[in-house]
Amino acid sequence: MSAYDLLITDTDVIDGTGGPIRRADVGVSGDRVMAVGNLVAEGAMAKETIDGSGLALAPGFIDVHTHDDRLVLTQPSVAPKTSQGVTTVVTGNCGVSLAPFVPGSRAGESDPPGPMALLGSWADYRFPTLADYNAALADSPAAINVASLVGHSTLRAGVMMDTFDRAATKAEIDAMARMLEQSLKDGAVGLSTGLAYPTAIHAPTDEIVELAACLKDFGALYTTHMRNEGPDLVESVDETIDIARRSGAATVISHHKCVGRENWGKSHDSLAHIKAAQKDITLDYDLYPYTATSTILLKDFLSTSEKTVLTSSVPHPELVGREFDSVVAEWGCSVDEAIRRLSPAGAVYFRMDEAEVRRIMAFPGAMIASDGLPIDEGRPHPRLWGTFPRVLGHYCRDEGVLTLEEAVHRMSGKPASVFGLKDRGVIREGAFADLVLFNPKTVIDRATFEAPETPAGGIERVYVNGALVWHDLAWTGARPGRRVGRAVA
Ligand code: ZN
Ligand code: CU
Repeated sequence: MSAYDLLITDTDVIDGTGGPIRRADVGVSGDRVMAVGNLVAEGAMAKETIDGSGLALAPGFIDVHTHDDRLVLTQPSVAPKTSQGVTTVVTGNCGVSLAPFVPGSRAGESDPPGPMALLGSWADYRFPTLADYNAALADSPAAINVASLVGHSTLRAGVMMDTFDRAATKAEIDAMARMLEQSLKDGAVGLSTGLAYPTAIHAPTDEIVELAACLKDFGALYTTHMRNEGPDLVESVDETIDIARRSGAATVISHHKCVGRENWGKSHDSLAHIKAAQKDITLDYDLYPYTATSTILLKDFLSTSEKTVLTSSVPHPELVGREFDSVVAEWGCSVDEAIRRLSPAGAVYFRMDEAEVRRIMAFPGAMIASDGLPIDEGRPHPRLWGTFPRVLGHYCRDEGVLTLEEAVHRMSGKPASVFGLKDRGVIREGAFADLVLFNPKTVIDRATFEAPETPAGGIERVYVNGALVWHDLAWTGARPGRRVGRAVA
């Protein structure tokens, strides 16, 4: 007879593999799942028993597309994620990571360039190596696990001092490759790019191939916010496939989508190209379940947007929540001038098609990820707090886009295997006890564009490495999160 630390009884286990739901008891001791089965009938005992009847137990969700680099250090609850049942985040997406960056190396620039400002101010870019970032996280652990990507724009900002509007030189590529390789030794899970941003849009394909070629030996990934997600969506997918082929790196397309009404429908072709490439290369993608995008305020993105709402503005916080066009009209200035006055600023851009979001979500193996942008003062896109419950409640239960088993797989087992997170993302004997107990009848996102920082409903209990971190709509205060990734598992 066994005595577990924790026994969750009579619950619908969705094990993360995509296999069918089965009613079982789950025993946890220390940081691991010890057994799954008819444990109560077999006489199992436990220090704590939770009645899981009427609820579903899934592996904690793995948010593979985040910008939580700073949040996990400054807000150990990581409440926007913990509240959704997320137990692991992958930071450093879209080409921007806090590490590695030598502090002060761009002295004289008041704010970080373009997308780097999404993660914070220069004061936040204080980690010359990923090992330094890891140490900070070890000193101040978060409630949830953290895996890190290295951002290509962050590397560029460390070595290209004159302008980003050119290809990196051979010497600069070598310097970036050395920083990338050191980061991979320090446990990074891969390299990310944000080729649509001013810091990287002039980087030619060859520059990316040379850097991505470092990844294969480490079994690390290449992830990309592609050069274009509108008129040149399909060409951008083809460029990504080319980079994947030539570098040999397993590749993930970030937040796959199609923006701009005149481009809607291009995902038929983009998905066909992805499917064809999957025959001979390892290619996956993630998506978030909304028809609005969110990023920095940038003229390029306004052209495909039907409505643009400010999420943040450092000089003008009083204008958060306002439509950009109304601010331009009120000021009677040009669009460029308004952007200049508002920046650093963020915005939500309404520019996708619901039918296309569903098509991209339904594609086999598509991973669910938030791309949430935590901001101190402002009104973030609701995907930050709502992504996972929205897929489970709205898209699965209410709309039938995916089965519950399939959706959970795209949030747990699938991302764990793509990102090489050993013993995570599944419920089975020996796996880490990252678990979410939720009510499938009530689970739903409550974050809206008007009130985006609202925790989801139906998320009952969230465990990380065997410790309870979220219960009764609140953080428990526990900080059991670890660094995860292939080299530091
Ligand atoms: Zn992005
Ligand atoms: Cu992103």
